[in-house]
Amino acid sequence: MAELEIIKHDDILFRDLLRAVAVKNVAWPHSVESQVKWIINNMQPDDLHVFLKENGEDKAYMTLSPVTAFVNGVDTPFKGVGCVCSAKHGVGLGKQLMESVNKWLSDNNHKGLLFCKKELVQFYKKYGWNLIEPSSVIFTTPHDGVYTMSYNCEGIKKIEYKDRLF
Ligand SMILES: CC(C)(COP(=O)(O)OP(=O)(O)OC[C@H]1O[C@@H](n2cnc3c(N)ncnc32)[C@H](O)[C@@H]1OP(=O)(O)O)[C@@H](O)C(=O)NCCC(=O)NCCS
Repeated sequence: MAELEIIKHDDILFRDLLRAVAVKNVAWPHSVESQVKWIINNMQPDDLHVFLKENGEDKAYMTLSPVTAFVNGVDTPFKGVGCVCSAKHGVGLGKQLMESVNKWLSDNNHKGLLFCKKELVQFYKKYGWNLIEPSSVIFTTPHDGVYTMSYNCEGIKKIEYKDRLF
């Protein structure tokens, strides 16, 4: 049975960074050195590395970053989902990853936030993520035409985001 292994960036060992790189490399092929550099430069101590494992093998991966957005006038904490990828595409691993992470978010009373390209909106919708109307999003962080989606956070009328990208 597939299960999640969640490691805080502050606690991660180099060998576990290499596991993340191996899964990421299927979607985004780069040298190990540049993958490791990217992770070190972009991840912060409280970010989480999330592995979906089955029989000890890594099947999919994502990151979760604690961020804050201003929702309907209130500062609201979210876990920001990034680097979603599976070790083999089209065989149900992305689905298992999303379903397991959704459960983890709900069980731990976290709200989820993600930014994605238009092509991926349907994928995330399939797993209960809601597209926030672009006209309701005020995005002060520079970005290039991403769609904003949330999980476990109903009733968003207006969301302002000026935290970091993840
Ligand atoms: C996007 C990704 C994580 C999906 O994982 P996957 O293991 O291929 O997904 P699954 O096999 O579990 O597919 C689950 C469902 O989503 C659909 N789906 C998969 N990729 C999709 C995509 N890019 N757009 C829309 N739907 C998609 C599948 O058709 C399937 O639907 P079905 O159950 O109705 O047949 C994977 O393709 C990937 O690693 N892509 C490259 C990295 C990337 O772009 N990540 C997103 C960053 S925001």
